[in-house]
Amino acid sequence: MNSSDVIVVGGGIAGSVSAYFLAREGFRVRLLERGELAAEASGAAAGMLLPIGEARGRSALYRFGMRSLAEFPELCDELIERTGFDPEYEASGALHVATTETRLRELQTARVALPEAKLEVLGADETRAEASLGPDVCGSLWSPGEAHVRSPLFAKALAAGAAQLGVRIETGTLVTGFVRRGDRVVGVRTPDHVFAADHVVLCSGAWAPSMLDEVGGGFRLPVEPVRGQIVALERPESASRAIIFAENVYLVAKRDGTLVAGATQEHVGFDRRVTAEGVLTVLRAATRLAPALATASFRGAWAGLRPTTPDGLPLIGPHPNLENLILATGHSRSGVLLAPVTGRWVADLVAEKSPVPEELSPSRFAPA
Ligand code: GLY
Repeated sequence: MNSSDVIVVGGGIAGSVSAYFLAREGFRVRLLERGELAAEASGAAAGMLLPIGEARGRSALYRFGMRSLAEFPELCDELIERTGFDPEYEASGALHVATTETRLRELQTARVALPEAKLEVLGADETRAEASLGPDVCGSLWSPGEAHVRSPLFAKALAAGAAQLGVRIETGTLVTGFVRRGDRVVGVRTPDHVFAADHVVLCSGAWAPSMLDEVGGGFRLPVEPVRGQIVALERPESASRAIIFAENVYLVAKRDGTLVAGATQEHVGFDRRVTAEGVLTVLRAATRLAPALATASFRGAWAGLRPTTPDGLPLIGPHPNLENLILATGHSRSGVLLAPVTGRWVADLVAEKSPVPEELSPSRFAPA
């Protein structure tokens, strides 16, 4: 039997960042991925690091998101130095655009409530001129500190960094079950092997609940797939380099000259097809917001399944019924943003250094 200190299941960003931080702490780690690395939500994400956009006010998501955002520059530099892979971190800032008076009032409230974010309210004309936007725009909030990465490159850099630190990464390796001794998880099974480990970290995104069906002791993880369809256009000269984040669409300018427009939010189970309706929905919203995009070249479209929880916060912490099984999944719309804190918390849990904030504990959804 092969043995490791920690087995990480899942090779998306949550799995790779967990493996990377664990290896940095000196653990012997094996990462098992059923397909290719970052082939699901992590490879599809627009890569926005947008705590103010994704959270409402000073919520838990905002606090954890701001903390995680602050770690990106150093983590990305470290990954470039270690691996040569550049996650293309861009300190672009973000323009939160309102097309209704109600949203504009919300943005004005955010400016007052979050002074540390140094937000600035812009009027309608200024906003339109700043980002070549159309007549629907009635104002905006400029957020200088928000940023983005190229999610597939960030995932690749994390996995390469983990491998460089000694993590054994095995792709095409399906975990078919967990080895238990009473309520304690002591390893995992694949079709060809049994792998023993002191700890197992489950990072399988939207697939995590079904993997635990047989062993969860009646606790089903409340994680559902929510499809996001994304369209890539060639970025017109006039388009802003800042993230443009409106009520129903966002635009993110990538270093390769594409402008990524997203995203739908569809409850369609595990169907990750790109559909005519999905592409139309995104393009209608994008061209209404920024009319110049109507003549931009079409570069492609893709879809991913966000692992979504009822409160939009991830599940990070011990499984409520199984010892030594740590969950790091359910990152909803913020898996890229929360990557650095996720890696740190998983490593701290395994090292028994410090607990994860209560708000993220999987037990919050377990019956008392
Ligand atoms: N974080 C943006 C999205 O999930 O569409």
